[in-house]
Amino acid sequence: MSLEAFISKLDQLQAAATEALAAAANREALEAARIEFLGAKSGQLKAAQKQLGTVAGPDKPAAGKKFNAAKMAIEQAFDAAQTRLESAPPTSKDGALFDITLPGEPIRIGRRHPVTQTIAELKDIMGRLGFTAVDGPEVEDEYHNFEALNIPEIHPARDPLDNFYLAAAEQQHASASPLLLRSQTSTVQIRVMEETQPPVRIISLGRVYRPDQPDATHYPMFHQMEGLYIDKQVTMADLKSVLRLFATSYLGRDVHVRFRPSFFPFTEPSVEVDMSWGDRWIEFGGAGMVDPHVLKAVGYDPEEVTGFAFGLGVERLCMRRHHITDIRYLFANDVRFLRQF
Ligand code: PHE
Repeated sequence: MSLEAFISKLDQLQAAATEALAAAANREALEAARIEFLGAKSGQLKAAQKQLGTVAGPDKPAAGKKFNAAKMAIEQAFDAAQTRLESAPPTSKDGALFDITLPGEPIRIGRRHPVTQTIAELKDIMGRLGFTAVDGPEVEDEYHNFEALNIPEIHPARDPLDNFYLAAAEQQHASASPLLLRSQTSTVQIRVMEETQPPVRIISLGRVYRPDQPDATHYPMFHQMEGLYIDKQVTMADLKSVLRLFATSYLGRDVHVRFRPSFFPFTEPSVEVDMSWGDRWIEFGGAGMVDPHVLKAVGYDPEEVTGFAFGLGVERLCMRRHHITDIRYLFANDVRFLRQF
């Protein structure tokens, strides 16, 4: 090949390469152009290098010089294209621009259920008042749910229609005390007193079950906070003080606590516990002085120790605090509702 032909070939090659590299619109196009012109195996520059060998001897230095100049120019064009694409705004696969100023997709972080949050807060408040949280089983036997709480066989509270008894096949064995889903957390009072000597100062927070038709204030499963305090000379005044301290901590300074006479088989006297802000009284649960029969049944001496017990509805507290008007919202699992807590 003559020197002139070689030089003109390289001029064309350089022009084509710099044009292609400058036109590369994305990384893929740039890579294709790099392979086409600078590729080590079959790139066009490589082919031109081979033709350099066919230029006549005396012209070789000039041809080599031309080759090197063209190679350098193409490599510079490649570097420039690369820099241009790296600093360009990001594009998707099809080359479309991303608008980096658009708001991102929010990552939704889960949170604890409002009832769970309430339970944690109640534990915290009662903990500061010296009450230790304990747990008890949700599947309970009749002895702990009724018998030991002074609720005899003939009592209407034991009606199978008012309780979730386990099916016969799920009962442990025919001779054992029949099993049911506990209808109250007072069961835990008995379990704790069976195992510990006074003084006792515990709370128990958990689920209870009653076959109620769901409406704005009823649900077949809900939570109670049971409290039990047994010691020498515990009185009804202590009960009221503890409930008032609890209520003002959870709901606010301006809360009033009121007792109304009532009846529970395991407390004597017994009261309903109401709380109010301004105008309206709401019933939150029951309470009373632990009946001496109950103390005796667990082996305590009612002449030595006395105590109080209370059971409050956790959902009611949570609903009052957050102005929730229907208990069913709490269990519908609608994230639009749950996200607010
Ligand atoms: N267990 C009772 C209920 O479910 C509440 C209660 C607890 C009453 C402790 C007195 C003492 O309604």
